[in-house]
Amino acid sequence: MGVGGGCLVLPWRCLVVLCLRLLFLVPAGVPVRSGEATFPKAMDNVTVKQGESATLRCTVDDRVTRVAWLNRSTILYAGNDKWSIDDRVVILTNTKTQYSIRIHNVDIYDEGPYTCSVQTDNHPKTSRVHLIVQVPPQIINITSDITVNEGSSVTLLCLAFGRPEPTVTWKHLSGKEGQGFISDDEYLEITGITRDQSGEYECTAVNDVAAPDIRRVKVTVNYPPSISNPKNTGVSVGQKGILRCEASAVPVAEFQWFKEDTRLANGLDGVRIENKGRMSTLTFFNVSEKDYGNYTCVAINKLGNTNASIILYEISEPPALAGPGAVHDGNSAASRAMACVWLSGALLAYFLLKF
Ligand SMILES: *[C@@H]1O[C@H](CO)[C@@H](O)[C@H](O)[C@H]1NC(C)=O
Ligand SMILES: *[C@@H]1O[C@H](CO)[C@@H](O)[C@H](O)[C@H]1NC(C)=O
Ligand SMILES: *[C@@H]1O[C@H](CO)[C@@H](O)[C@H](O)[C@H]1NC(C)=O
Ligand SMILES: *[C@@H]1O[C@H](CO)[C@@H](O)[C@H](O)[C@H]1NC(C)=O
Ligand SMILES: *[C@@H]1O[C@H](CO)[C@@H](O)[C@H](O)[C@H]1NC(C)=O
Ligand SMILES: *[C@@H]1O[C@H](CO)[C@@H](O)[C@H](O)[C@H]1NC(C)=O
Repeated sequence: MGVGGGCLVLPWRCLVVLCLRLLFLVPAGVPVRSGEATFPKAMDNVTVKQGESATLRCTVDDRVTRVAWLNRSTILYAGNDKWSIDDRVVILTNTKTQYSIRIHNVDIYDEGPYTCSVQTDNHPKTSRVHLIVQVPPQIINITSDITVNEGSSVTLLCLAFGRPEPTVTWKHLSGKEGQGFISDDEYLEITGITRDQSGEYECTAVNDVAAPDIRRVKVTVNYPPSISNPKNTGVSVGQKGILRCEASAVPVAEFQWFKEDTRLANGLDGVRIENKGRMSTLTFFNVSEKDYGNYTCVAINKLGNTNASIILYEISEPPALAGPGAVHDGNSAASRAMACVWLSGALLAYFLLKF
């Protein structure tokens, strides 16, 4: 069968005489274990990385009359004669003590049993070596960056190839400490994803052949706006007043401002609306009596909307520091200084009453 294989590959070589002459090379039944036989002595299993060269050595002595290397049952070399048509296979040494071949640019298909077959004193003997081909870990398919809505389920996939088969793990990079969970599987399933679970996920494929292959996936979690700590603001007439509205949302919220049922527009009635990221501000350049009241900030994105009411209320004008027409920020140092003066007065009154 081995010779038949060789003959199929190279029919022009298939002279019956030659084939018969080489029949002794075909392993008859169970191959002789290298430990038991004196000759031939093949090496232990050969391990190489894909793309490298593998050398198959067979130790012989001067009683050996014929030698050959076989890939499974196909003859690669018989003595100095090349039977294989594969250019990657070359003879390295054929001396009285050693018979070696080399396979260049080894691929995973080359993995398997190779047999050194010899004839000594008309007795055929064989010895087998396993060629083991290693491949560095490589991620071959990974989920692309995705955007999902909060509460939905997500499966991240990371397929890796390599020999030995790589170990695949998932890690949440943006996760706060203790929250960045890990999956030791190709699949990472998240049911009911939360906003805290958004961010970068890293897949790592490891085997002991070469450095790990690492890839990242960005998961964006959309959620409806929520307004945090709306604050009522006190401003006196003639001053500058600012109402602030902060909303967290993905995608980022758009804002609208209302007074009672009327929507406010930028530039009208001496107000300016400014949106910057999570924050919207409503600025009154010169607060008058009619400006006081109940305002509503509405934050909207495609997942929903929410609103909060913020009151602009009157505080008595600081007499000394803000003359008529002077414009100050409601939160300015001046008003804080005034609060301080008032507080000191109150404390003084308290002590006077007590003693
Ligand atoms: C050689 O490899 C084969 C197949 O992987 C295995 O069965 C055998 O035990 C190995 N022999 C040695 C000496 O490592
Ligand atoms: C060994 O045999 C296998 C299976 O027929 C083949 O795919 C591979 O290319 C052969 N390798 C060499 C070096 O002959
Ligand atoms: C990656 O895997 C997915 C899911 O199994 C499959 O639909 C897709 O075709 C694969 N892509 C590639 C490039 O193999
Ligand atoms: C402001 O208006 C909202 C509704 O527009 C109402 O729920 C809220 O009670 C009002 N606040 C005050 C202090 O009147
Ligand atoms: C504010 O929210 C309430 C209930 O969430 C809704 O009834 C009301 O119409 C909203 N107001 C505005 C101005 O969108
Ligand atoms: C603010 O408005 C009042 C009343 O309309 C006006 O008298 C005053 O000059 C204004 N101040 C500024 C700085 O525009």
